[in-house]
Amino acid sequence: MTTQHVRLTVNGEVREADVEPRLLLVHLLRDVFLLTGTHIGCDTSNCGACTIHVNGQSAKSCTMLAVQADGAEIRTIEGMADGATLHPLQQAFWDQHGLQCGFCTPGMIMQAAWLLDQNEKPSEAEIRHGISGNLCRCTGYVNIVKAIQQASGQLGTGDSARVEAAGTVEATAAS
Ligand code: FES
Ligand code: FES
Repeated sequence: MTTQHVRLTVNGEVREADVEPRLLLVHLLRDVFLLTGTHIGCDTSNCGACTIHVNGQSAKSCTMLAVQADGAEIRTIEGMADGATLHPLQQAFWDQHGLQCGFCTPGMIMQAAWLLDQNEKPSEAEIRHGISGNLCRCTGYVNIVKAIQQASGQLGTGDSARVEAAGTVEATAAS
């Protein structure tokens, strides 16, 4: 079996492995490094459950080979909390009930973190567009949007204000 040596930084820690050239990055993370917070929800690159950061960019880790990540800086959901202190997005998903089964949540949080890196105070429409590559079969997205609004300082932790769908807001504004 031909293998290739890879060396990457994962959540600030240098990790190395000998991998088959066909191994996907998501499998390197889950099966070799045992970082199972990154999920696999499809085999069509559609669901976003496997979203991580590669060199600061949001990436679906099922769409990359492990060997393509050689030398890269990787951040996964396990690297978000600071010890026992949740990342503001993790806290906001908790506060706003932004999950039900939780399967999509790690990928959703990683995508939201990247979105907020690009745009500190995204509008609701920008949030919905920003997470459009991440599917959630449970929540209807409303509380996920609220969580991202909370993490961006646009919604208080106890704010139960109803978040209208972007289309509804736009329709109201136009009327
Ligand atoms: Fe579904 Fe990667 S596992 S997009
Ligand atoms: Fe179940 Fe999103 S909370 S898929």
